[in-house]
Amino acid sequence: MRQKDTLILAIESSCDDTSAAVIKNTTVLSNLIARQVIHEQYGGVVPELASRAHQINIVPVVDQALKKAEVTKEQLDAIAFTRGPGLMGSLVVGTSFAKAFAMSLGIPLIAVNHMVGHVLAHFIDDENKPKPTFPFLCLTVSGGHTQIVLVKDHLEMEVIGSTIDDAAGEAFDKAAKLLGFPYPGGPFVDKFAQGGNASAFSFAKPSTKGYDFSFSGLKTSILYFLQKQQQLDPDFIEKNKADLCASIQETVIGILMKKLLKAAQDYGINQLAIAGGVSANSGLRNALLNLEKEKGFQVFIPKFDYCTDNAAMIAITAKYMFEKGIFADQQVAATARFSI
Ligand code: KG4
Ligand code: ZN
Repeated sequence: MRQKDTLILAIESSCDDTSAAVIKNTTVLSNLIARQVIHEQYGGVVPELASRAHQINIVPVVDQALKKAEVTKEQLDAIAFTRGPGLMGSLVVGTSFAKAFAMSLGIPLIAVNHMVGHVLAHFIDDENKPKPTFPFLCLTVSGGHTQIVLVKDHLEMEVIGSTIDDAAGEAFDKAAKLLGFPYPGGPFVDKFAQGGNASAFSFAKPSTKGYDFSFSGLKTSILYFLQKQQQLDPDFIEKNKADLCASIQETVIGILMKKLLKAAQDYGINQLAIAGGVSANSGLRNALLNLEKEKGFQVFIPKFDYCTDNAAMIAITAKYMFEKGIFADQQVAATARFSI
């Protein structure tokens, strides 16, 4: 007998984007994101402004997600939300909404870890893409996190390495700020790097233990280098923008790939995945594809829409939690820190 379909509405509000998605089993029916542009002018996410915007956006985004999916609220089997990690004020908006919605419908509530969501985005149906099998390694790189995750099963994973200071996305954004790009600068570095020479300049690469990362030294190295060069030529940045972006990108990718490769060799794992906002970076995608071509790894790169923060990744995680009956009660609270 065919199993009954599972329909879940998921909400993601951990940072500055308000997102809602509807999933039917492992197929995404809708995935809507209301982006907040207000933070650009401040050079970073302002938590107070983010939570206010979530309050304004959450009802229309959920309403649109249901309409686009052509699903009524009465058809839903569960409501999922991001419990953490993230900005407390932002998480509280999604959490409170989800709790109230689930209670009013009398259906289960599912509290999802955002970082698990980034990893499980690889299991969303995409007709062109194979899904990883277990075990695999996932390099999760975003504005707030940099982790190497050993994924043993959908809901069984272990962080084997992480950053001891800045995240990879933060490194991109801070370097971009020094070059005069608006926030978030990662995508600008990527764009300009495409016309530059990656070996034009070299920057400090840290030595960290095991599979851990460090990016704060890189920012300092770039800052001192630019200050020195600008004393000799005030237009140095303008004249060398593409080469600077290419060299910075190459350095960040080099730091990431070295540890990922070491982990793959030590653990004897042949399947490598990337996740999180920085996995949108074309240089990182190419570096991974080269590993496939030259070293025989099988690599998994998420669809662009599922790289940066989105509710579809929360929905797919909730689907696996639903199958196992992992539900939250009405006392559940958002949490800024939430380990995998
Ligand atoms: O996962 P995400 O959307 O949000 C967090 O959970 O942090 O990641 C956002 C980060 C930002 O630091 C942004 O600059 C970076 O991802 N990012 C990129 C690119 N696209 C987004 N960094 C480098 N190249 C890109 N193409
Ligand atoms: Zn994220």
